[in-house]
Amino acid sequence: MSAPADLPLRRDPSGHAPSYVRELSPYVPGKPIEELARELGLAEAEIVKLASNENPRGPSAAVRAAIVKTTNDVSRYPDGNGFALKAALSARYGVSPERIVLGNGSNDVLELVTHAFLRPGDHAVYSRHAFAVYPLAVKARGATGIEVPAKDYAHDLAAMRAAVTPQTRVLFVANPNNPTGTWIEPSLLKAFIASIPEDVIVVLDEAYNEYLDPSQEAPSARWTGEHGNLIVSRTFSKAHGLAALRVGYGIMNANVADMLNRVRQPFNVNALAQAAAVAALADTAYVDESRALNRAGMRELENGARALNCRFVPSHGNFLLVHVGDAAGVYQRLLRQGVIVRPVANYGLPEFLRVTVGLPAENRRFLDALAIALTR
Ligand SMILES: Cc1ncc(COP(=O)(O)O)c(C=O)c1O
Repeated sequence: MSAPADLPLRRDPSGHAPSYVRELSPYVPGKPIEELARELGLAEAEIVKLASNENPRGPSAAVRAAIVKTTNDVSRYPDGNGFALKAALSARYGVSPERIVLGNGSNDVLELVTHAFLRPGDHAVYSRHAFAVYPLAVKARGATGIEVPAKDYAHDLAAMRAAVTPQTRVLFVANPNNPTGTWIEPSLLKAFIASIPEDVIVVLDEAYNEYLDPSQEAPSARWTGEHGNLIVSRTFSKAHGLAALRVGYGIMNANVADMLNRVRQPFNVNALAQAAAVAALADTAYVDESRALNRAGMRELENGARALNCRFVPSHGNFLLVHVGDAAGVYQRLLRQGVIVRPVANYGLPEFLRVTVGLPAENRRFLDALAIALTR
């Protein structure tokens, strides 16, 4: 029997939610494999999901072992200060543990920034086609999101600088950006950060940092020691293969970290996630292999898109934004073939689909399905 419909309410309390909450559109995640398998009557193993920029290899064997070992301890609350994980991050980046804030995914860190620093009426600046959580988190505080037009799908740093006013409290930069995959060279980024008033928080979201060639990586952790307003956010969801466990972190000035910790839930990062993240950080060879596999898969997707006469935005992440024209129709025709990608109309990109780089067989399956989807 299906669940009963909601009772009709005589006085609906949802109307008392602030207007800025009622006006929000909920975040739309990638379609779950289980859902499509049910709809198509297929086995889950027959579905290919390239929709949420996860590592198709999952976590390393060492990380899986750390998770299994920690299952013995799940009756106790986790370490609310994340001592071991902060110690490992501190050693990796040469920053003291007081300058690290752990999050339930890096999304949590982004939200903590808005909780700690935005009041209704404040402004937060971000780029058009940037990660969808920025406007959501900003507007949920009653603050005003200032969306700056992009230049060739990338952040227009000069225009973003010009959008900063005395009302601006926070500015977000995604590098590489999702869903466009665009990337800002470190010297330009550093000059940009230095040009922002010191009392405006700059969030540098580096969720895809591990996919960059090491020669392209910005020394952003070090920059947080030079710019008291800089917050660098990173995640274990992508190259480390831990999206389901939800663990990310921010590196920043200790005073800023103190503010984020005041609005943080006491046990926001669970014990399995903390243990897994410590093991993942140590397994640098696994990340190197994942980066190499991603690069090869990216070339495969680029070549496949070219062969189908689809242009794409060159990407520095683990996903590719491909121009397909009627993206809503192509998306549906891919679904019918058991392939889930991500429509990005909500990012102002109605003619594109974003596809995550998968395992070689998944990439081929996507390209074969795309060839069919484009012709119907
Ligand atoms: C640019 C960017 N930042 C942050 C995140 C958040 O990831 P998580 O909360 O899993 O760390 C994502 C996830 O897709 C992303 O694309």
